[in-house]
Amino acid sequence: METVPFVQELENFKTERLAPIIKAGQTSLAGGPAVDGKQMLQIALANEISVSELAAAWMPSTPEIDVKIALARQAGDEAGHFELVAERLGALGFDSAGFRAPAENPLFQYLKGLSSTVERIAGGLFTLESIAYAVNENFMAFCERQGDSETVRIYREYIQPDERAHQQLGNRLLAKYATTPELQRAARETVAKVIEISAAARAQAAARIGSACFPGC
Ligand SMILES: [Fe+2]
Ligand SMILES: [Fe+2]
Repeated sequence: METVPFVQELENFKTERLAPIIKAGQTSLAGGPAVDGKQMLQIALANEISVSELAAAWMPSTPEIDVKIALARQAGDEAGHFELVAERLGALGFDSAGFRAPAENPLFQYLKGLSSTVERIAGGLFTLESIAYAVNENFMAFCERQGDSETVRIYREYIQPDERAHQQLGNRLLAKYATTPELQRAARETVAKVIEISAAARAQAAARIGSACFPGC
């Protein structure tokens, strides 16, 4: 398949697979118990640093220079998101100075194990960033209900535009590099796998904290 229609088809496939994750957040929003916003922001901290580390880990072993640069820039952007969230937590009375990056979870373990450039683009920029964008929207609606408009503003003005740009960069890079049937099949399998692992992990976490509106991927 030509790469542009392939990416469009993969985009549709991803949207379809993401729907249950988005729905879970909306269901929590509609009838969930009271959950502490600071706890949600600590999940965001863990996610932002994990995505930053992932992009940084992939960078040296990704030969294509435009993808290498994309990963380096992404690592910096996600570190910036970490700082924004940490600052917001500070204003809410939670000191993040002692925060330590979380132990590897199955999602990041799987992603770190991807060795080809197309799989990395498909799993990281193309899929993980779409999950992040979608669940952050639910998280912002949660914050809105809690009356935390400052957190909403930070996401709306800084974090979400970056997550969207990462995702769009993923689309462009996939269109450039997923040029053969084998590469396209690998990309599709990676998209499916990332969403599957993320959905399972999010469902477990939601049961633990009592809401599926938490941010990150
Ligand atoms: Fe981020
Ligand atoms: Fe991102």
